[in-house]
Amino acid sequence: MSEQQSTITSGLVENRVFPPSEAFVKAARVSGMPAYDALCAEAAQDFEGFWARLARENLNWTKPFTQTLDESQAPFYKWFADGEINASANCLDRHMGTAVENKTAVIFEADDGTVTKTSYKELLARVSQFANALKAHGIQKGDRVLIYMPMTLEGVIAMQACARLGAIHSVVFGGFSAKAVQERIIDVGAVAVITSNYQMRGGKELPLKAIVDEGMALGGCEAVKTVFVYQRTATACPMLAGRDKTFSEVLAGQSADCAPVPVGAEHPLFILYTSGSTGKPKGVQHSTGGYLLWAKVTMDWTFDLKPEDVFWCTADIGWITGHSYVAYGPLAAGATQIIFEGIPTFPNAGRFWQMIERHKCSIFYTAPTAIRSLIKAAEGDAKVHPDRSDLSSLRILGSVGEPINPEAWMWYHKHVGHEKCPIVDTFWQTETGGHMMTPLPGATPLVPGSCTLPLPGIIAAIVDEVGNDIPNGTGGILVVKRPWPSMIRTIWNDPERFKKSYFPEEMGGKLYLAGDGAIRSADRAYFRITGRIDDVLNVSGHRMGTMEIESALVAKTDLVAEAAVVGRPDDVTGEAICAFVVLKRPCPSGDEAKAIAKELRDWVAKEIGPIAKPKDIRFGENLPKTRSGKIMRRLLRSLAKGETITQDTSTLENPAILSQLGQTY
Ligand code: WT7
Repeated sequence: MSEQQSTITSGLVENRVFPPSEAFVKAARVSGMPAYDALCAEAAQDFEGFWARLARENLNWTKPFTQTLDESQAPFYKWFADGEINASANCLDRHMGTAVENKTAVIFEADDGTVTKTSYKELLARVSQFANALKAHGIQKGDRVLIYMPMTLEGVIAMQACARLGAIHSVVFGGFSAKAVQERIIDVGAVAVITSNYQMRGGKELPLKAIVDEGMALGGCEAVKTVFVYQRTATACPMLAGRDKTFSEVLAGQSADCAPVPVGAEHPLFILYTSGSTGKPKGVQHSTGGYLLWAKVTMDWTFDLKPEDVFWCTADIGWITGHSYVAYGPLAAGATQIIFEGIPTFPNAGRFWQMIERHKCSIFYTAPTAIRSLIKAAEGDAKVHPDRSDLSSLRILGSVGEPINPEAWMWYHKHVGHEKCPIVDTFWQTETGGHMMTPLPGATPLVPGSCTLPLPGIIAAIVDEVGNDIPNGTGGILVVKRPWPSMIRTIWNDPERFKKSYFPEEMGGKLYLAGDGAIRSADRAYFRITGRIDDVLNVSGHRMGTMEIESALVAKTDLVAEAAVVGRPDDVTGEAICAFVVLKRPCPSGDEAKAIAKELRDWVAKEIGPIAKPKDIRFGENLPKTRSGKIMRRLLRSLAKGETITQDTSTLENPAILSQLGQTY
């Protein structure tokens, strides 16, 4: 792929365009822009017919659906509602008796480098056996099961086994705290927990089971009857007799045959918590049929999946990316995928590149944060530079989770993709279930930093505060105008919050509000995401609500009187968390301030998880407030960035605190 023009006028105007090579277009599943346009036209002409065709072609239904979209209770949309299906059967059983049966489903590389390969046939047996173990412990259709597992094959098996029984899983990322585990167990009403004694990350053995115990000891988790414990390492962990069972114990004697339980297409496949703009995380509820459809179709379209591809999505199963593009999409599509337990910097920062070479990875999907940190590492140490590895197996690169800055894009393109791999910059969210806007590798001319165009059937637009369309070239609010099959169905236990958050009345109640700002280019009508418009930060591609961190800080009642959290740009993590704190004692400085800052970081790690730790902590006698008492967040954002304050501070009640708040600990 060659560069057509090469002038960048500024960070905002990007003129470089990289069209796919002719050979790539020719071989692609969606071949060229006319093929993309034809799919969009099909969706425009007969919206329901388009989705119904995809659903019939891509999924096996135990009972065919007759109705495609039910809008009668909008915005609680239903898709394929009278159809019946099982997600696990569509990921595993459907491949039996085909060429995929004996194909490698998963190449697992452990933290220490040990590699294990599992075929589709073997995976089906292992999922079935584990599903039987769950069944033997009373778990059935509709039950909620909390999964707190490391990034191992067993994590995927646990998810698939739940899906096989129609049990609803809720995966909690292994970096979340005991309190987060407890809150999710309670909110979701879990009857069982699946966890691991320890997890291995970067050569370190870190506890998981002990954190579950600690969370459950906080109370309110009495509905949990069984805790299933995978023994990832030889180290013993505390086990409560009667409640806690090891995997080997429960798998003993279980058959490797387990009939998948058909469920209605709208039956929840899973609930995944994500941060919102209030303190309490939202339990995003996804369906079975519509969700799986999009996971499968986007594997084919966005990643142009071919039978010989080796796919690698580096996301953890604790996030939506690990659900759609590790646990479900690749399996539904019959792909061979790499699952990696460890971290990109262990034993050195060349690990990703070495793994691509080792496993002949052809499609590599990761986050801009990882790319930026590996650029830094490669620039500091030639031994971990991607140029040291044979990356010739790669044909498509992907980016997900946050805007990718053009510099990082160009490096990824040059040093990883060797200027021949299209980069698919996929914009989507926990709530959307799968990709919404992304280039198609064999069709869309790429522009660095732009997620380009919506996928066929996704009707995205940019509007003003009341929902009116905005012309290209002008920034506004990103919305989706029509429902799509993999969309969030509701917020678990909170349908009102679902309506308010995603279909606000102020905008007419019919537009899906993504929560991001965006702008379309005047020339190509390409979308570029300009960042969240709510109080949600994006740190290393992970969503963090500022209110959630504020609530955690003020919960330290012996120390903290008031706290405000804002984001500031960070070279590696995209955004960094900056907390402004007023203590219940005089404003500290020097070593005392350092010690308190550490105490607060440890506290936030305990309350939410290490990912929520503020990078910067600043202390003041007070926060900058207007005379009516409102915290001036815009001013805090400027302070966090280290900008000199040019804003009008005349309404500020106590201007003197600005200099106090200038010091970072
Ligand atoms: C938020 C969703 C998508 C799965 C991982 C994150 C931001 C996501 C992009 C992108 C610019 C992006 C948005 C979005 N985001 N992908 N390609 N370009 N921004 O899922 O935790 O639900 O976060 O991530 O702000 O709203 P999530």
